[in-house]
Amino acid sequence: MVNKITVVGAGNVGATTAQRLAEKELARTVVLVDIQEGIPQGKGLDQWQSAPIEGFDSRVIGTNGYDESANSDIIVITAGIARKPGMSRDDLLNTNAGIVKQVSENIKTTSPNAILIVVSNPLDVMSYVAMKVTGFPRERVLGMAGVLDTARYRAFLAEALDVSVRDIQAMVLGGHGDTMVPLISYTSVSGIPITQLMSQSTLDGIVERTRTGGAEIVKHLKTGSAYYAPSAAAVQMCEAIVNDQKRILPCAAWLQGEYGMSDLFLGVPCKLGRKGLEQIIQVELTAAEKDALAKSADAVREPMAAVKL
Ligand code: LAC
Repeated sequence: MVNKITVVGAGNVGATTAQRLAEKELARTVVLVDIQEGIPQGKGLDQWQSAPIEGFDSRVIGTNGYDESANSDIIVITAGIARKPGMSRDDLLNTNAGIVKQVSENIKTTSPNAILIVVSNPLDVMSYVAMKVTGFPRERVLGMAGVLDTARYRAFLAEALDVSVRDIQAMVLGGHGDTMVPLISYTSVSGIPITQLMSQSTLDGIVERTRTGGAEIVKHLKTGSAYYAPSAAAVQMCEAIVNDQKRILPCAAWLQGEYGMSDLFLGVPCKLGRKGLEQIIQVELTAAEKDALAKSADAVREPMAAVKL
């Protein structure tokens, strides 16, 4: 375990992330920060009171400021507003950019060595805001989306094939939006190419459902967006870093020539270890996948150009 992990934003994603981090004992102290008075304190205390039952020794603390979070090893940024039905993630742009900017300024002065995992939407652009404002190197700023999008894809595939989710290997790249790119050529079930087990039309349906997986949940919930799977995804990234697992997970990373692109955050296969982003793995793509990734990059660049810092 590391000494301290902070979660900024005590909404559904943030609070569930804090609880999962504590249950896995990934940090000695888990700090939940939110500007709303009483909410992080109440949720943090409630979570700490679950410790004797669940049997974890991670101390959860809720606070409105950044003093308690000082010198965090990892900070998960979930602050911001969530989507309502009919909204795209880009509709959140200006509000959340202002919030993530303020959060990043606080982090820069209180936890200058932290590794950041950005969850606030629109994810790829908010990762850019966090990196720009903190001035942290790209190794220490990652966006959480690919793990979530891939989990949705794997869950749908497992359901359709009636097999264990554990045996589905897959990767969803690109921006965290409707243009995301599930890599069919790298989708397999215990090594068996997915195209041998499923018709193209079923697969196409699952790819489409994955792309709109977040919106499907928003439509059900009406008052907010998903949080169980998003928090699980953020915690998996934390676990890979804390335990120096060198896992290869799809994450939003700042590209510097990889995949022929530069100066934007985009979902690509990343090796995560104690230093944060330790490597971007470049895989061969089919012409169609390359084309789809380029389109997805365009969909990230547009809101990125509109954001005012
Ligand atoms: C989703 C939100 C968290 O995909 O972006 O559910």
